[in-house]
Amino acid sequence: MAAFADAIIAWQRRHGRHDLPWQNTTDAYAIWVSEIMLQQTQVTAVIGYYAKFMQRFPSITALASASQEEVLQSWSGLGYYSRARNLHNAAQKIRDEFSGVFPTQFDAILSLPGIGKSTAAAISTFALHAPQPILDGNVKRVFARHFNIAGWPSAPAIEKKMWQIAQRENPSALNQNARAIAYTQGLMDLGATLCTRSKPKCAACPVNASCEALAKKLVHTLPTPKPRQVIPEKNTTMLIFINGDEVMLEKRPPVGIWGGLWSFPEVNNDDIHLQNASPLTKLTHTFTHFKLHIQPQLVHTSKKSQANEPHTIWLNLDDAIGAAIPTPVRKILQELHRANKKSA
Ligand code: ADE
Repeated sequence: MAAFADAIIAWQRRHGRHDLPWQNTTDAYAIWVSEIMLQQTQVTAVIGYYAKFMQRFPSITALASASQEEVLQSWSGLGYYSRARNLHNAAQKIRDEFSGVFPTQFDAILSLPGIGKSTAAAISTFALHAPQPILDGNVKRVFARHFNIAGWPSAPAIEKKMWQIAQRENPSALNQNARAIAYTQGLMDLGATLCTRSKPKCAACPVNASCEALAKKLVHTLPTPKPRQVIPEKNTTMLIFINGDEVMLEKRPPVGIWGGLWSFPEVNNDDIHLQNASPLTKLTHTFTHFKLHIQPQLVHTSKKSQANEPHTIWLNLDDAIGAAIPTPVRKILQELHRANKKSA
């Protein structure tokens, strides 16, 4: 009855990924950090950040005693910054409530900020010899196709069905650590390399013979996409106060969009009549829930007139680019940097 798992395991051993930086270890901390970075972000984007993060924060204690600023700086550019804030908070919780040792009980893992059921299961399987079924976005796509499950996989009723499948197909846990690890990694690898959203490579798939979507020619319609909702668009003007090669950054409130990161002060497009301002290239940043159109305005100031504003700091362009800033702010700073170099 374990035909599905057996095929995935055999395929993973021959064709799966074996040399990712968070594999071949049972260090729960190393695995935890990787799983958080890999939420919503692809392996290729994660690898560089991961190496630097582990070098800078080599242990739970090191992470717990760092400042939020340092942690956000290391995360800068990866997006979804609540992941970094949660990781940092969770490290402090482990230090304070679990004597600095990553918890081994599933419920305790699940109680840590930023860790949901699938992430807890991946950590438990890879690090703790306690295999649990996973269900991330890639696995949902594999299940939706293989078992022909229509409906948006993250709709509660569909997700419930998917968890039942995840549980049912998970290989028996008893003394089966190596198999459980290969199965779990195999599902992830299959979703990332063969059972991809577009142009899936069904001919190479180890479970193509039993794939219902393939048999019924439904591979391209499954998984059912999220019901379309129009995402709102917002406009903002960012004010880039510049004095020589120094710019002013403002710390954003601790929660919400770009919480805790440094950004430029913003004003509503309608209320501004700026003097000494020159527009820079407009850019658009897409969040999960809305699109933000940004008009940067460069404002030359002869002295640091905003210096007494709370939560602000003046940095030269190099330092600003290296600070804990969101991606569009980095793009604006890089444009300024290029322009400065040309005129120098
Ligand atoms: N995505 C989530 N966890 C992963 C892992 N351990 N390896 C590759 N991709 C992943």
